[in-house]
Amino acid sequence: VLIVKTVDELNRVRASYSGSLGFIPTMGALHKGHISLIKESLVNNKHTFVSIFVNPTQFLEGEDLDKYPKTIEADIKLCQVLNVDVLFMPSKDDIYFDNEIKIQAPFIKSYILEGYNRPAHFDGVLQVVLKLFNIVKPSKAYFGKKDAQQLFLISNMVKKLFLPIEIIPKDIIRDDDGLALSSRNIYLTPQQRNQALAIPKSLLKASNLISNGLVDSIKIKNSIKETLKDIDIIEYIEVVDREFNRIKEIDVKNSIILIAVRVGNTRLIDNIWI
Ligand code: PAF
Repeated sequence: VLIVKTVDELNRVRASYSGSLGFIPTMGALHKGHISLIKESLVNNKHTFVSIFVNPTQFLEGEDLDKYPKTIEADIKLCQVLNVDVLFMPSKDDIYFDNEIKIQAPFIKSYILEGYNRPAHFDGVLQVVLKLFNIVKPSKAYFGKKDAQQLFLISNMVKKLFLPIEIIPKDIIRDDDGLALSSRNIYLTPQQRNQALAIPKSLLKASNLISNGLVDSIKIKNSIKETLKDIDIIEYIEVVDREFNRIKEIDVKNSIILIAVRVGNTRLIDNIWI
């Protein structure tokens, strides 16, 4: 893997790669979820670039920017083993300037759910993703369905700004015990992890209820709430369509059930696409 640390160098390197290029933007602490995105890109593109950049503009004051898990050595090793072509690891000063251009994510869809308690979070996500897309110039970019709202807003940006990039969504990867993989899972104590298992359990139960004909969103949310009764804080349980409009009834093949909770100090999200 070729490690590139500046935008100038990336520009030079990029010019020597022709043909389809798959891109996986990350904030590092790579796990099996990222690996599945990288592998998908390796199979379907001539070249694969990965970026690691802990983007300050998507963290709010008081969030875990400084504490965000960093496993750089292991991440590099992983990219080497997988045969990633380029690992792009820019610094903050390489990506951001004084008096920055701000991106405003569509208000109604970005200030709900993940954006409700984190106003402007998605402005920061879109800002950095647009910059990374312009630098890397990928043909395809890969994102996990776990960050469903992020995936929706990025797809929406690509469509509305006519970016010549195909967004490829990939299914959530779970550990053997069912917990969705997340860089933040390492914060959980064994006891907290046990508690957190109620999250996938509640989604599985909801999915079974839906298979048996239940469509009422309130009843589905109540069932999830019941399964999550021992979780410290439930931030939201929501049923939306694939455009992120809240819906009263499940519409099969066009619905997502989303959960955000806190277990101890760790914020966890999960979802299921119905
Ligand atoms: O999902 C993430 O890791 C980040 O939000 C992303 C897309 C890399 C932008 O910083």
